[in-house]
Amino acid sequence: MNNYKKRFPENFLWGGAVAANQCEGAFDVDGKGYSVIDILSFGDNSKKLKTMSSQDVENALQDKEGYFPRRDGIDFYHHYKEDIAMFADLGFKVFRFSIAWTRIFPNGDELQPNEKGLQFYEDVIDECLKYGIVPLITISHFEMPLNLVTEYGGWLNRKLITFYTRYCKVLFERFGHKVKYWLTFNELNLITLSGYMLGGILSDKVDNMIEAQYQAAHHQFVASSLATKIARETNDNILIGAMLGRDEYYPLTCKPEDVMQSIQDSRFELFFSDVQVRGYYPSYSKRYFEEHNIHIKKELGDDEIIRSYTVDFLSFSYYSTSVSAYDREGMETTDGNGVITVKNPHLKASKWGWQIDPIGLRIALNNLYDRYQIPLFVVENGIGMLEEIPDDKYIQDDGRIQYFREHIKQMGEAVKDGVELMGYTPWGCIDLVSSGTSEMEKRYGFIYVDKDNYGNGTLQRYPKKSYYWYKKVIASNGEKLD
Ligand code: BG6
Repeated sequence: MNNYKKRFPENFLWGGAVAANQCEGAFDVDGKGYSVIDILSFGDNSKKLKTMSSQDVENALQDKEGYFPRRDGIDFYHHYKEDIAMFADLGFKVFRFSIAWTRIFPNGDELQPNEKGLQFYEDVIDECLKYGIVPLITISHFEMPLNLVTEYGGWLNRKLITFYTRYCKVLFERFGHKVKYWLTFNELNLITLSGYMLGGILSDKVDNMIEAQYQAAHHQFVASSLATKIARETNDNILIGAMLGRDEYYPLTCKPEDVMQSIQDSRFELFFSDVQVRGYYPSYSKRYFEEHNIHIKKELGDDEIIRSYTVDFLSFSYYSTSVSAYDREGMETTDGNGVITVKNPHLKASKWGWQIDPIGLRIALNNLYDRYQIPLFVVENGIGMLEEIPDDKYIQDDGRIQYFREHIKQMGEAVKDGVELMGYTPWGCIDLVSSGTSEMEKRYGFIYVDKDNYGNGTLQRYPKKSYYWYKKVIASNGEKLD
């Protein structure tokens, strides 16, 4: 039996996280192709994330007037050395970033990769390694090639498995000896909320959208398992993680109907990690599929692939918790990460309505570990805040410090509870474009980036008060939280 752990392990991976589509910019530089997200314009974002038609794609490609924030990001593409130097100064042990599929295979279906794209990521990886920062790479974070949507129908098409695994093979062969930690897809479970962004499914191409989303997810499960197989064959040092967007679902009351509802809501997310960690479709999914007229087309051998190549660890994002009620009629609701939930009267919320619940993180960690018994990694957590830069350029973001202090305390409690926790990478460690709203002014960073919602600004980077606070947290391995 392991000793009872009283603090974070010595090799705990403290760091931060970003994604290519929200920070790199340079959307048409060095051969990069259009990704699904490059065509979402400011103001239009939330609606289009949920549903996008062929006509919407056509309109966006013709639009010469609109502002498309992801195309510019914070120009990490040209600032990565400066940014990684700041992460090194912060003491990062790990940096989570994603590779834009469209830099490596601009249209997704080429046979040969784009060398300029590979070289860019080689440079980013080497820059991290120079400072002793371990890269944690997401292979696909909301940015599949647009061509795979318009020409192939997105992940509904089985051919995508071939394209994706070809892309993975190139990455593992090129970087596998330098990069140990990989995540195959970001928040696979969000495909049920955004068939377009995660699955490349256009609304006018399908009759039963829910069925299409689960069919696309099935192809992603097979692709993820095959990627795991390729990784193991390429370099046995590589570890592959699944990535789940996690809310905990509290029953509104102790009424059995509410409790059952919280189990159902929870399964709606956990279905995805159940498949990727345990290696098979959970029995509860069969009833759900039948009741929603969902028929998944599997090929012979798919189940065996999913069973044979399960993930090594489970990573997840955690921002808030939700409340489940059997009958939501007349209830006050609020926003969360992709969800609309009944409001919890015991919690405060961010300006965007996301409920702040540090103890929920301890609950999530315990529940996931109880369920799977494999190492966990918190790869996103944080709070979006509106911030104005004062004359002295020093943002005193005490609210963010308070948020992280409480969440890190609860993570520490989970470690004492016996949860095997690999690391912690707060989201948007440097301000970047919001995924849900495309705003620049929904800021998460320890580092302020001078840019507004409309693309104006110098792109100058400034450390906030939380930067110096987090630096002390990392230096003390999570002990000094004051
Ligand atoms: C996660 C995503 O769901 O939430 C990130 O992986 C995203 O890409 C983050 O940025 C926060 O959401 P938002 O909408 O505030 O940017």
